[in-house]
Amino acid sequence: MKVAVFPGSFDPITLGHIDILIRAVQIFDKVIVAVLHNVHKNPLFTVDERISLIEEATKQLPNMAVDSFQGLLVDYVKKHHAMAIIRGLRETGDFQNELNMAQMNHTLYTGAQTIFLPTQPKFSFVSSSLVKEVAKHGGDIFDFVPQVVGNALREKYR
Ligand code: PNS
Repeated sequence: MKVAVFPGSFDPITLGHIDILIRAVQIFDKVIVAVLHNVHKNPLFTVDERISLIEEATKQLPNMAVDSFQGLLVDYVKKHHAMAIIRGLRETGDFQNELNMAQMNHTLYTGAQTIFLPTQPKFSFVSSSLVKEVAKHGGDIFDFVPQVVGNALREKYR
């Protein structure tokens, strides 16, 4: 059974993330979306809210689960016997940091490989932070996030 972990903050999940996920579930037997529980960040959505938004937005996708994690990603990956860490690459600016993370993770644990999947060009500028910025000022974000997330963002900023 080939298990992959797709880690991130997902505050909130965007259509760019979903696009990566749709492709990842075709490659692996199971993909676990792992939401980082980061006490140092100040997220808009709680971990539970992020998890239920992801669950709602991915209802139609097979072979996946949604979970949260704290601490080192590689510890989570090891515990779940995953062979891969999935990360999406939007543009070249993402690459340096992502490469460093992949190399660090591989140094800490050689039992899993980081797999980069390129985002479709139509989502290359879409990030959770930009979407929040637009939503905060009343802009239309429904082209960038699943409907359920768009509604939740509207509710948060009402
Ligand atoms: O969506 P993000 O915020 O870009 O995701 C970053 C994430 C969660 C993948 C990264 O911060 C992470 O793995 N954090 C867990 C702590 C850890 O393992 N750090 C070392 C990674 S080199």
